[in-house]
Amino acid sequence: MDLLDKLRALEKRRADFAGSVPGETVIDRVVGPCEVVIEGRRTLMFGSNNYLGLTLHPDVIDAARHAVVEYGTGTTGSRSANGTLAIHERLEREFADWFGKRHAIVFSTGYQANLSIIGALCGADDVILIDADSHASIYDATRQTSSKVIGFRHNSPESLQKKLERLPSGARNRLVVVEGLYSVRGDVAPLKEIVAVCRANGAYLLVDEAHSLGTYGARGLGCSEAQGVLDQVDFVVGTFSKSLAGIGGVCVSDHPELRAVHFLARAYIFTASGSPSNIASVSAALQVIRAHPELRDRLWANVRLLRQELTEIGLAIGETESPIVPILTGDEDRTIALWQQLLAAGVYVNLIVPPGCPKGACVLRASVSAAHTADQIARAVEIFARIGAETGVIRGLAARTV
Ligand SMILES: Cc1ncc(COP(=O)(O)O)c(C=O)c1O
Repeated sequence: MDLLDKLRALEKRRADFAGSVPGETVIDRVVGPCEVVIEGRRTLMFGSNNYLGLTLHPDVIDAARHAVVEYGTGTTGSRSANGTLAIHERLEREFADWFGKRHAIVFSTGYQANLSIIGALCGADDVILIDADSHASIYDATRQTSSKVIGFRHNSPESLQKKLERLPSGARNRLVVVEGLYSVRGDVAPLKEIVAVCRANGAYLLVDEAHSLGTYGARGLGCSEAQGVLDQVDFVVGTFSKSLAGIGGVCVSDHPELRAVHFLARAYIFTASGSPSNIASVSAALQVIRAHPELRDRLWANVRLLRQELTEIGLAIGETESPIVPILTGDEDRTIALWQQLLAAGVYVNLIVPPGCPKGACVLRASVSAAHTADQIARAVEIFARIGAETGVIRGLAARTV
């Protein structure tokens, strides 16, 4: 067996693929926050995480422009060695202030935020308990530790309680990791119950609010805020790559020990820091989110509109009302065909097939933005209706006239 055989097998599968290849979509041009050009066609974007539509916000772009002139294009090094700028520290203060927590630390990506915090906290004698549906960054973060890793049933405080009960009592060396809003099926963690289980069993709690930061809670602080438990979460992780329209990650906490992550986390120490333009743009996006709660109102109005319209045309969608709307398509071949035809007709959504989901439980993930117009939603729904009927996904439903 040659090392390259694995890669050759994948290349062959790719070469045999008819039509657009999943995972290789190239966006040629960005026309607006929710409209792009793909393969020469104007395409409605329903597969981004641009929940508040800030990627093209004038304040955000201006901040990036000014920072590149003031600081240059890159930091050329890690936070620890030579890559901490005043704006990195300012952004940390802004996050701490926004969350009302004492400490914040920013990372080069959200992926590295999880790697850094979990890697810094957990070692050989510790136990990490993670939701079975956790994001790859959480799984990968646990793999770099020599901790015992235990999975519990998705969104089940009862399952978590059982797993914790089996551990020797007394030691406070357990970290429970959950997400606020899960990125594929758009379901929300029962954080009140999870907090209660953690407190009863002496476990620390980390909540990854990647998709819920900016979208949930009165101030946009995520599901922990929305469920009234923010003050009981030990570590909140966020990413800049969704509502904040940039690249990077953050952890906020009241534990002063968070500061030691600067010296402990390999995924923080041995990688370059966020570029000046990016850090400045995130800072501006944060100010926009704080100043404009109506963006969230617009997002949720669009969520309700899209869900209602997709249900009306007969598509099966996930139960939870959230900015992530999973269209439950099931079979892999049928899901890929539907994805390709939607793309050809001018709608981009995310394709979720194994290993991203269990066999036979494939999903087309549509995401909603505050920047979607009613017209864009209507056009997308018309295309969903037509292609859904043509491919047999919407059984017994007459296609709308497009
Ligand atoms: C739950 C969760 N955590 C972390 C990440 C990683 O974030 P980033 O893309 O900023 O590396 C993602 C990305 O989708 C995510 O969904």
